Order: sequence, then C-alpha cells, then structure tokens
Amino acid sequence: MLRVGLIGCGRISDIYIQNCQSYNELQLVGCASLDMAESREKARQYDIGIVCSADELISHPDIDCILNLTVPSAHTDIALAALESGKHVFSEKPFATDLAQGRAVLKRALDNQLLVGNAPDTFLGGRWQTCRALIDSGVIGMPTGVAAFVGTHGVERHNPNPDFYYLEGGGPMLDLGPYYVTAMVSVLGPISRVCGLSRKTFSERMIETGHRSGEMIPVEVDTHTMGMIEFESGVIGSITMSFDIWDSETPRFEIYGEEGTLCIPDPDPVHGANQFGGEVWYRTRENSRWAYQPRVTGKDSWTVAENCHGYNDNSRGLGLLDLAVAVKEKRQPRASGELAYHVSEALTGILEAPARGGYIDIASTCQRPEPLPQQFP
Ligand SMILES: NC(=O)c1ccc[n+]([C@@H]2O[C@H](COP(=O)([O-])OP(=O)(O)OC[C@H]3O[C@@H](n4cnc5c(N)ncnc54)[C@H](O)[C@@H]3O)[C@@H](O)[C@H]2O)c1
Repeated sequence: MLRVGLIGCGRISDIYIQNCQSYNELQLVGCASLDMAESREKARQYDIGIVCSADELISHPDIDCILNLTVPSAHTDIALAALESGKHVFSEKPFATDLAQGRAVLKRALDNQLLVGNAPDTFLGGRWQTCRALIDSGVIGMPTGVAAFVGTHGVERHNPNPDFYYLEGGGPMLDLGPYYVTAMVSVLGPISRVCGLSRKTFSERMIETGHRSGEMIPVEVDTHTMGMIEFESGVIGSITMSFDIWDSETPRFEIYGEEGTLCIPDPDPVHGANQFGGEVWYRTRENSRWAYQPRVTGKDSWTVAENCHGYNDNSRGLGLLDLAVAVKEKRQPRASGELAYHVSEALTGILEAPARGGYIDIASTCQRPEPLPQQFP
C-alpha cells in the first residue's frame, strides 16, 4: 500500500481524498496546506491522521508519496522537494509553468529512482479508454486528423478565488488544454510541431460568486487561444480553448480517420467531458452523412460505442492509483511526468508560437501510455 501525504487542501482536494480513501492500494495518512485551519478541517472531515506544514509532511518518514494539489506556481517546488526527500510525487496540472523546471523534476526523479505522475488522468477514464480501444481496433481506419474545441466564459462565475486562472501559468490553453492534448497523445502518439494564435479579450474580470463577489481581478494571460498540432504519425489537429465564449454549439472532441469519424459530443467542463465518463459516438463510411440524401445529422445518426471500461465517474486520483501499482510493478505510471512534460511543451509552444516566429518543433517525446485494462487494478 502506498502511503500518501496530501499538500493542498483546496477545492479539488475533496474528490481526490474521497477516491484515495476508496482505493485499496492507497492510504492517505497526512495533509498540509498554507492554511493550518483549512488543513485541520480537512483532516477532521476525512479522519486524516497527520496535519502539519508542507515541509514537515515532505520530510515525514511514514509517507511514500506526495499528492501535490497546490496552485500551479507551487507545483514544481513541491515536486522537487518531495523527490529530494525520497518520495514519489503525483501533481495536479499543469506539470510545469516553466519547462526548465519541468525538466528538473524529471531529472531528479530519474536520479533518485522515484516516480513522477501528473494530472490530467481523465484519459484513463472509461470514455477515453473506449476511444483508445476503438482507434486501436481500426473502427475509423488510419487516423488522419483531430479537433478539440471548448468554449467557456472562464471560472469567475463559480470559483470564489479564480485569481490563478488569469495569472502567468493560467489561461484556458494551460488549464483546459492538458485534458484534450493528453487524450490526443494517449490515442495518437507524440507531437512533432505546433503553432498558434491567441488573444486577451478582457484585461480585468469580475468575481461573481462568494465573499469577494464584485471584486475585479487582473488578467495577465491570453484567454482566447487556438493551436495547430502535427503528430509524429502525420496526423494533424486543431485546438481552441477559450474563457471568452459565452455560448457555442461547436464543443466537440473529434478524431477523423480514413474510414470514419469518432466524436465526443460534449467536451466541456460543465458537462464533464474533461472528466472520465460519457458517450463516445462514431460513424463510418457506411453510415456517413455523405452516404445519405437528404443528409442526416444529430445524435440519432451516430453509433454510440459500447463502453466496457471502468472509472466512468469522477475518478480524479486514478493516475495516482496507477502510480501505486507502477511502484509494485517497477514500471512508469501511465499518467507519467514524461507525458505531462511533453504535453506542457506542446501547449507552451502553441502560446509562444507567434512571438517565436511560427511553427515550434517539439523537442521532447514520450511513450504512448499502455491502455488501462478493463479490470484495474
Ligand atoms: N478546482 C478545480 O475545479 C480544479 C480542477 C482541475 C484541476 N485543478 C488544479 O488543482 C490545483 C489546485 O486547484 P484548487 O482549485 O484546489 O486550488 P485552491 O486555491 O482551492 O487550493 C489550493 C491549495 O493549495 C495550498 N497551497 C498553495 N500554495 C502552497 C504552497 N506553496 N505550499 C503548500 N500549500 C500550498 C493552498 O493553501 C490551498 O490549500 C491547481 O493546479 C488547479 O489547476 C483544479
């Protein structure tokens, strides 16, 4: 059993704690944050034994792995300290706001023979594993293209402390992009080059919920972002991630193949498709809308794929569960640091492309993670 110490007791921590406590391979033994009262409350609520500072948790002898759910700017410092202290680490996204720091995390893990895992782990959920199985079985033939579009109006309507989403390291491409680009890489393999365009529509945004309601917060980053992606396999893709869109009928995650199309119909955080479960649709040459006159559209014209995979509920922490199994099996976790770094490099490249003069070659690569067995662990 992997003994886990949680650092970061904020909004996302509840679902992680609940899931960790339900997985036999994990034992949540301690928690810490910047706010001792918050940590104590979390420990009381979930019966967690150790409450202390982050530094104390990182050096605690009864902990094997740090679960790092801090804000993005703290991710790499916590990960580096955990690895230095001989502990595996699994962090929330983004892997790194600075690629050099991301490389430092990978190097320290390698040097110290420890494992690094990183969210998102949604691609291990039933919906995305169904996609993977359909693609691998050739249902839509050889993949040729992929598209992801998510249009939201940011987080300040439902998050009472949305500041970090609009500061350096935040923004829709780094916040939402990891779900979809990680899913793309897990299905289609590594990325060779990217380009992109982005803009900032509002220089300030108003918090619309909680005790700071009405407060204006600054926006440092671009909030309407688009990228083009070329994969090593030759597949080409597009991605639009926005905090500046009030509404759209477009939201989709689609993979195009020589023999058909695979569609995730609702890839947005509200409907939970950046989460683990949900329908996967496909159409092949035979029932393509181009085969009919008049053309058919809408849900009923798609085949809904059979989903035989587990983890269709909100399973955040599944990547950490896989890391616990990986420790025993002496292998890399599926939601690995290597995969997260590769995705971070691609997303950063999309954002930096205009300033760097166009197409950005992606220096890193990664293994396509093995599919998650239908019965796991
Ligand atoms: N909230 C969500 O819906 C959501 C969804 C997916 C991913 N995430 C990711 O999860 C992470 C956390 O998000 P959140 O919404 O829970 O944030 P939050 O602001 O609610 O909580 C952050 C927690 O981290 C602690 N913390 C911050 N810096 C620290 C440091 N240096 N040392 C120790 N503790 C520190 C804070 O005290 C707090 O407990 C972010 O990386 C975010 O991108 C959040």
